[in-house]
Amino acid sequence: MTGAARNTRVLLAERPLNRRVRESDFKIETAAVPEPREGEVLLKTLWLSLDPYMRGRMSPARSYAKPVEIGEVMTGETVSEVVVSRSPALEPGDVVLARAGWQEYAALPAAEAERIDPQGMPLSYFLGVLGMPGQTAYCALLGVGQPKPGETVLISAASGAVGQVAGQIAKLRGCRVIGTAGAADKVAYVKDVLGFDHCIDYKGKDAEALGAELAALAPKGIDIYFDNVGGAVHDAAMANLALHGRVIIVGAIAIYDRLETPDTGIRWNRQLLVKRARMEGFLVWDWRHQTQEFRRDVSQWLREGKIRYKQDVAEGIAAAPRAFIGMLAGENRGKQLVRVAAQAG
Ligand SMILES: NC(=O)c1ccc[n+]([C@@H]2O[C@H](COP(=O)([O-])OP(=O)(O)OC[C@H]3O[C@@H](n4cnc5c(N)ncnc54)[C@H](OP(=O)(O)O)[C@@H]3O)[C@@H](O)[C@H]2O)c1
Repeated sequence: MTGAARNTRVLLAERPLNRRVRESDFKIETAAVPEPREGEVLLKTLWLSLDPYMRGRMSPARSYAKPVEIGEVMTGETVSEVVVSRSPALEPGDVVLARAGWQEYAALPAAEAERIDPQGMPLSYFLGVLGMPGQTAYCALLGVGQPKPGETVLISAASGAVGQVAGQIAKLRGCRVIGTAGAADKVAYVKDVLGFDHCIDYKGKDAEALGAELAALAPKGIDIYFDNVGGAVHDAAMANLALHGRVIIVGAIAIYDRLETPDTGIRWNRQLLVKRARMEGFLVWDWRHQTQEFRRDVSQWLREGKIRYKQDVAEGIAAAPRAFIGMLAGENRGKQLVRVAAQAG
């Protein structure tokens, strides 16, 4: 079926311990295309999603999922096309969401692949605004944050895969929205295209300087902090919490290169007490029961032009390591993807 096709794939070669990821942490190799067994499908990867959580999978530090082993294919969600099916559940030509990893082909149980009905939406959106990052924005903001009209919402990594959706939903809920981002063009995109009320370029500023900027923009305090990053922005937000503020811990990318050492710093116990505030960790997989509702609402907003979404596309599976490292360093402009192959037909 696949003729002389070969499977180029990206393996984990070395763990980056307490340091930045390097291209030499990965090994690119070409192997035979796998044979699907009974009940499995052979999938051809069309789109691969690159996400910050994959940095955690490269570390042996304890987390909510087990690490990728040395020599294993890097984990990752894909939009893939069924090439061969040995299951009645899927047919060749079906397009599915799957965890096929950083490779061109994968054989997986059909039950682990979800058929996509794109309904006119770009397939890549199912890894972004209509996929895991979009659902993170929707469920964390609406489910945990519970924004009310007129409240002030702060969103870090505001121009990224999650942040751009979270901020636009907060605007749709009638909130004042402030973003933080790490480059002048990102700040302009967040304000001028996404319609946030303000955006702060946080680069090169400590928590005190950021806190002063936030205090000027939000004199009554931050009602909801959608924390994608941790670090100095987190401390600046905590210092500016409003009474009954909610802090949603969604990500901590500022410390992903030092997961093996304890994260110590200012303790915010008293601030939480004084402001009767709440801080809650969020994991998108705990919100699977809301997937249909999320896809329905966000598809509707996209169709109505109420939500815009930017994607950053690298070409070919071999480009994945460089694009991943770039994304961790903030080089991405929107949701980072790899276009691995075109859809047949
Ligand atoms: N809990 C969950 O279920 C869940 C689900 C999805 C994502 N997340 C988390 O959400 C966060 C955003 O993910 P995403 O997919 O939307 O990624 P993204 O924002 O598209 O890309 C990552 C961005 O992080 C920013 N960044 C990198 N280093 C930073 C630092 N030291 N301090 C502050 N910002 C830094 C960069 O933007 P700047 O140029 O603005 O610095 C970079 O572009 C990540 O922490 C991720 O792990 C959590």
